[in-house]
Amino acid sequence: MNNSSPTWSQRFETALHPTIARFNASIHFDIELIEYDLTGSQAHAQMLSKVGIISQSEGEQLVNGLEQIRQEYREGKFQPGVEAEDVHFAVERRLTELVGDVGKKLHTARSRNDQVGTDTRLYLRDQIDRIRLKIREFQAVLLHLAEQHVETLIPGYTHLQRAQPLSLAHHLLAYFEMLQRDWERLGEIYQRVNISPLGCGALAGTTFPIDRHYSAELLHFTSVYANSLDGVSDRDFAIEFLTAGSLIMVHLSRLSEEVILWASQEFSFVTLKDSCATGSSIMPQKKNPDVPELVRGKTGRVFGHLQGLLVLMKGLPLAYNKDLQEDKEALFDTVKTVQACLEAMTILLREGLEFRTDRLLAAVNEDFSNATDVADFLSARGVPFREAYNLVGQVVKTCLAADKLLKDLTLEEWQALHPAFDAGIYDAIAPHHVVAARNSYGGTGFEQVRHAIQRSQERWERWESGRVGEWESGRVGE
Ligand code: ARG
Repeated sequence: MNNSSPTWSQRFETALHPTIARFNASIHFDIELIEYDLTGSQAHAQMLSKVGIISQSEGEQLVNGLEQIRQEYREGKFQPGVEAEDVHFAVERRLTELVGDVGKKLHTARSRNDQVGTDTRLYLRDQIDRIRLKIREFQAVLLHLAEQHVETLIPGYTHLQRAQPLSLAHHLLAYFEMLQRDWERLGEIYQRVNISPLGCGALAGTTFPIDRHYSAELLHFTSVYANSLDGVSDRDFAIEFLTAGSLIMVHLSRLSEEVILWASQEFSFVTLKDSCATGSSIMPQKKNPDVPELVRGKTGRVFGHLQGLLVLMKGLPLAYNKDLQEDKEALFDTVKTVQACLEAMTILLREGLEFRTDRLLAAVNEDFSNATDVADFLSARGVPFREAYNLVGQVVKTCLAADKLLKDLTLEEWQALHPAFDAGIYDAIAPHHVVAARNSYGGTGFEQVRHAIQRSQERWERWESGRVGEWESGRVGE
């Protein structure tokens, strides 16, 4: 057997071409999985010794040797290169150096195919927990901001045209809800990540009397794959995770787009603090919203990873194919990107921007976003809504021609339009009242918004008090 390629069987006579070896290798990225690979291998070794495939003392030597590799890795002393091909071979080789020939028994009744699936699931489980925690931190900031801005008004838009004024808290709580779904979705996906492929072997199971349920239990998996072919070639769980990551990015990106608009001179609804804004290298007056722009930009990468894995999977015959090695960089980059974006947006909203309440108030006083309320005023007095709607359309047209707002019309002018108008119309169209009046469940009325804050707070606190249990079990929802 050739020295530079000692892992293959004696079927091989010459080493891999060095360029092909580099092309084939995944060690430069799958080293990210090392701690999970060690843990997975320890469970496998324990299972082998429990069922008597190896002796108890051999099992202990393997477990201890793997633990030693963990220490070496943490101390920066274990840095396998391309000759190892991938993290699984790197660990097995080092183990054999450390514990001698018994190290060669580790791979009994296992294949790298079920091994890599196990590692990836263990990795994703941890990352899902981390991302869910970051979602909670971000939600806490949204909630805190909402509490401060129940009665701050902001124009609400449809088609990016002024529609109806809103409580700023209501606007922020919309994002709380989106993130709540993201948190729940990840919890649901966790359940399908948390299934053990270990013991599926290369594709067909194994001739050894293994106990798959025991190794699954040691690794805190809730169940095992029922079909070995499916177990080694399923990446649904990874696609689901990338989908959840993509949706988180959709939400962060929409908020980013709003912050970018709000920070523009045209809107001027927020001021960016120096800690979260950057300047231009040539235009001294500039203050740029780089953070939300980057979040919006990075969203494309995450979508790309999802698309990439979908396309990768769609034509793969069963079972394992080397194409599957390509799933990892997509997952790793998504995990890092989603976490970094959640962190950056948390800081941006917590301390990186200030709402300009003066500008927001001026904005809601300067438009026709109270027009629906004029129509509602009439229909509450018996005029059929569609008729009232048409009449108000006329009024708006007249006002626009006269460069006036609805509030500028005199009572006589109102009454000339329709006898049902009375002095109450002025209150009815004042922005604060316009918002307060939308007191339907889930609406922007201040009373509703206060209820919504209360409910969100309760949800958040319920999560916090049950955090440890939920953390360990990956329990879904509340
Ligand atoms: N590095 C490989 C991967 O990430 C490990 C599994 C290799 N299995 C194989 N049959 N070549 O997919």
